[in-house]
Parts: sequence; structure tokens; C-alpha cells
Amino acid sequence: MPNTTDRDPDISSMYPVPLKPQPTPPVLSSSVKWDGPQEGRFLVADVTRGLKTVRPGEVKALRIVAIPAKTQPWMNQPVLGLTRDDPGKAVLGTVPVEADGSAYFRVPSGVALFFQALDAQGRSVQTMRSATHVQPGQTLSCTGCHDSRKDTPPPSAPLLASLRDPSKINVGPEGSWTMRFDKLIQPVLDAQCVRCHNPKNENAQAAKFDLEPARAYHSLTHYGRPSLNDMVLSAYREGVSREGQNFAMQSTVLRLLTDPAGHQGVALDPDSLNRFITWMDTYAQRLGTFSPEQEHELERLRGAWAELLIEPAARQAAARNSN
Ligand code: HEC
Ligand code: HEC
Repeated sequence: MPNTTDRDPDISSMYPVPLKPQPTPPVLSSSVKWDGPQEGRFLVADVTRGLKTVRPGEVKALRIVAIPAKTQPWMNQPVLGLTRDDPGKAVLGTVPVEADGSAYFRVPSGVALFFQALDAQGRSVQTMRSATHVQPGQTLSCTGCHDSRKDTPPPSAPLLASLRDPSKINVGPEGSWTMRFDKLIQPVLDAQCVRCHNPKNENAQAAKFDLEPARAYHSLTHYGRPSLNDMVLSAYREGVSREGQNFAMQSTVLRLLTDPAGHQGVALDPDSLNRFITWMDTYAQRLGTFSPEQEHELERLRGAWAELLIEPAARQAAARNSN
């Protein structure tokens, strides 16, 4: 054997490692079914585990957000939102969390996803700052929001969610798959705000807070202290998610609109409120795709994944029938 500190001139190797024949380790059979339905499942145990301020039972649902890939090489072109490198975003929707904090749900395979834990009002109390996905036929499980991937789950009674069929995804408000300010938020403004918040209004303060399409995005993201823009940029710079510090909860605009005393007679219906919350908590982007082609592809996939989804119209019909 040559001296290990020297390079072997024949094979140019440093640090050689001695080898000897070994028995072949057992081969685990694959859990992936490439030819089966293009979907998998996630099983979450005790979602509040790992959270310090959120009490058991407070998380009622998980929001699932897909991250469409960046399709062009230039930084910040097109501009999607407030930071200089917003990821693509398509909100797939929400799935229920059981009383013991468990969730079990179907998702399309091969799609990069992240989760948000939602309170009873649909506001995010924590955002996953990374991505995960499943391959066809796989079920992945995780504990809390989060335990370390190196921890073993604590012993527990059978998870309530695992005793039923996996949930389908309740598709989010219109304009959130893919994320589009002009379809998610502007229709609410047009219906409920623009009649006062336009430059021609005689009330100077209302006129200055212009919510017509050309100015609305800027007005909403730059109002108040902290403004949405301030909050998004500081969370972006900080690089980790702080629980309970999501934007809808701290929004000066929503505080004004949901004030029990009301705002100029405006009463937001649940769908409009959910639109604001969904938009703010996913970092108030203007757009969620990098090109019209990508947007069309994501619309096509929504059709292709119909079996995994509960569309809002079907949900409303079911609610009417049960009343
Ligand atoms: C809404 C809370 C929350 C839920 C629920 C959640 N995560 Fe996460 N996850 C996080 C946060 C926060 C991070 C980022 C930690 C960091 O890097 O600061 C993360 C990071 C990750 C990472 C990258 C870091 C690592 O440990 O490898 C993976 C993979 C991951 N999560 C998988 C999952 C899976 C699988 C599930 C369950 C199906 C899940 N997550 C559910 C909050 C959550
Ligand atoms: C009936 C007229 C009217 C409607 C409708 C209305 N507002 Fe206002 N809004 C006002 C007036 C007047 C003010 C200034 C006085 C005040 O703060 O109440 C104002 C102030 C505001 C402010 C504070 C602006 C500042 O510079 O201080 C915000 C934010 C706001 N409105 C948002 C909205 C949103 C969002 C909607 C729709 C969901 C809405 N308003 C609907 C009349 C209206």
C-alpha cells in the first residue's frame, strides 16, 4: 500500500479507502407507483407541536401553496411582488385539521408545495419556509410545524385524521390559483371601495387613498405603519418565519375594515375577507407566475387534478343541501 499522504502517480488518488467484499444490503421495495394516479398523500400529526404560542386546537386548517418554477434567467422579471425575488405561487386551497391536530390529505405528485397553519378565521399562524413534495403513490408524514426531521414521533393515540379517508383540497378564492391581484383583490375593491376611493371623491382623504386598478396595489401595500410592504420586506430579509407574525393579523387595512364600529358602512362578506387574508398571508404578490404560458398550464392542471379538489361552487352547493 502506498503512503496515504502521497498521491499515487498512476491513479492520482488521495486518501484511498480500503474495501472488502460485503453482503448486499436488503433492497427496500419502492413506495412509488410511477404508472398509477399522479397523486400522493400527506399525514400530519399534532400540528401545534413545535409551536410555542399556538395552543392545541387553535389550528383549524392547513393552506397548501404550490410553487411554480421560475422559467426565465433574469432576476425580478417579471416583477411578481414586493421583494426582488418572489417565488411563483398558486394557492391550491385548504384541508381540515382534526381536534387532535392531525391532518390527512391528497395532493398532486411531483409538485413543490409549502404549508400554512390557519386559525379559525383562516389567518396563518405559521408558514413553512421551505418546500416538499410526494411522488405518485407515496404517503409522507410529519409531526408538528415542526419537529426536527431527526426526531422520532412521540407515542400517541391513533391520529383522528388517519381513521378517515384522506381529505380533498378545498380550492381557495378566485384569483389565488394562480395568484393574481387583479382577480383576487381588485373585484372586491371595485364592488365595495372604488365608489369612494377614487381621485374624484370630494373627501380628500378618501380620494388620496386611490383604489382604482392603476393605483390599488400600491395604495394597499403602502398604507399604515407597518405597511404590508414594510412587513413583507422585513420577513424576507429575516429569512425565517416567526409564528403568529403573519401579515393579515397585523394588517392596518384589515384592522380598519374589521373594526366593530365599521368603516363607512362597509361590511366585508366572508369571501371578500378571505380574499384579503389569503393575499396578505402569501406575501401580497401581484402575480404568481412568470409567463402567460405557465399560467395557462396551471389552469390546465386544475382541470387535470379535479379528482383531488373541491371547487368553491361544489362546496357551496353541499353547504346549502345540508341546511
Ligand atoms: C405551517 C407549519 C408547518 C407544517 C404544517 C409543516 N412544515 Fe415543513 N417547515 C416549516 C418551517 C417553518 C420550515 C423551515 C424551517 C427553517 O428552515 O427555518 C419547514 C421546513 C421543511 C423542510 C425543509 C427542512 C428539513 O427539515 O428538511 C421539509 C422537507 C419539510 N418542512 C417537510 C414537511 C412535511 C413533510 C410536512 C408535513 C406533511 C411539513 N413540512 C409540515 C413549517 C411547517
Ligand atoms: C362610503 C365611502 C367609503 C367606502 C365604500 C370605503 N371607504 Fe375607505 N374611507 C372613506 C373615507 C371618507 C375615509 C377617510 C376617513 C376615514 O378614515 O374614515 C376612508 C379611509 C380609508 C382608509 C385610510 C386611508 C388614509 O389615508 O387614512 C383605508 C385604508 C380605507 N378607507 C380602505 C377602504 C377599503 C379597502 C374599502 C373597501 C373594502 C373602503 N375603504 C371603502 C370612505 C369609504
